[in-house]
Amino acid sequence: MTLPSISQSPVEHGFVQNPYTFYRRARAMGPVVYWEEYGKPCTVSHGLVNSILRDLRWGREVPPENTVPTPPHIQAFMDVEQNSMLELEPPRHTRLRGLVTRAFSTKAIQRLDPFIAELSNSLIDGFSGDRIDLLTAYAEKIPVLTIARMLGVPADMSDQLLDWSHRMVGMYQANRDRAIEDAAADASREFAAYIGTFIDKRRREPDDDLITALIAAEENGQKLSRPELVSTCILLLNAGHEATVHAIGNGVKTLMECGTKPASLVRPEVIDATVEETLRFDPPLHMFDRYAYEDIELAGHMFRRGDRIALLLAAANRDPEAFSDPDVFAPDRDARKQLTFGAGTHFCVGSGLAKLEIKRALETLFKRLPDLRRTEPPIYANRYHFHGLQRLMVTT
Ligand code: HEM
Repeated sequence: MTLPSISQSPVEHGFVQNPYTFYRRARAMGPVVYWEEYGKPCTVSHGLVNSILRDLRWGREVPPENTVPTPPHIQAFMDVEQNSMLELEPPRHTRLRGLVTRAFSTKAIQRLDPFIAELSNSLIDGFSGDRIDLLTAYAEKIPVLTIARMLGVPADMSDQLLDWSHRMVGMYQANRDRAIEDAAADASREFAAYIGTFIDKRRREPDDDLITALIAAEENGQKLSRPELVSTCILLLNAGHEATVHAIGNGVKTLMECGTKPASLVRPEVIDATVEETLRFDPPLHMFDRYAYEDIELAGHMFRRGDRIALLLAAANRDPEAFSDPDVFAPDRDARKQLTFGAGTHFCVGSGLAKLEIKRALETLFKRLPDLRRTEPPIYANRYHFHGLQRLMVTT
């Protein structure tokens, strides 16, 4: 069967501000549609997104017959990607992920709780002037300082980490060009060199941090190789803050717009459900691809080995078959089956840490500043690969 075709520019202003209207339009055409501008099928169905994420016949790693030679100018970026668990499938993925999750224990995350709460409070203490951009003064600072602390990277490197990371994730942009590719390759080279030096230092002087734990981690007598260690640290530093910044920003916006006093939604009895629902309602990452590793029939369409499908996580979170009144923000609902962190093999390693950061960020902000008001309507940045605000101007 030929899939119904849908047209939508991913950089059109109206779409970037509210992609959910497009998802509704796509859903009315069927569970799988062909998105013309991306040139690939995509699914908005919660059931399909969830099952494909858990199905080993689909994966992120590029099948050998689909690989194309790497253009030399992006080699440095690919060197990092090729050793990143996010871009691999079992058996290499299993080994890398096993080594990381062990070092990334629930206990290690819990140990960061007082740090995150104190950090949130000290950032609020530093708010000055009558108009504050919550994105740069608050939402951006908490994740980068927390992941740097967890890995053991000095806090005064945080601006540099943000710069490297922003340049690298530019590669996922819909309108990527040569300048973006050159910037990403330069950033990858500099970032890898910095992490390499830092790893050498921790080998000489071990500390109580994640980099030291990763150096020591071993599975079946195998350790992470040096390129794997470098890629894993970069992955954790980048994945560890890029999405969480926008999850906090989108969460603050949602609570300020929902019609209920935010302070009442961050009380200890309800905060966990509030966080879960903000993550369902307006997540920061909307699209992830999978390759078919064999011929698979789906929604009446035959996918051949090597074909791609885009999984629209944010659309799945608004599927009426999974959530009643999905376009309503309802913090008292059970939103735990939201797919914001994915599912299956690549389920987000940092979901526990991200939820803790969002929880402390929202709680501290609205407890300390219950009368917080926006001074201008928030606008989403024109960047579909991260659905997040350009700025969030508020007054206390
Ligand atoms: C709200 C914030 C976050 C969101 C929405 C998010 C979302 C995701 C999603 C959807 C995936 C799976 C991608 C796929 O299946 O193709 C993923 C994977 C991953 N995330 Fe997150 N993430 C967040 C925060 C974090 C944090 C704080 C960390 C680390 C400290 C982290 C580390 C990772 C890693 C290492 C992977 C790769 C796992 C694998 O390939 O097995 N993430 N994340």
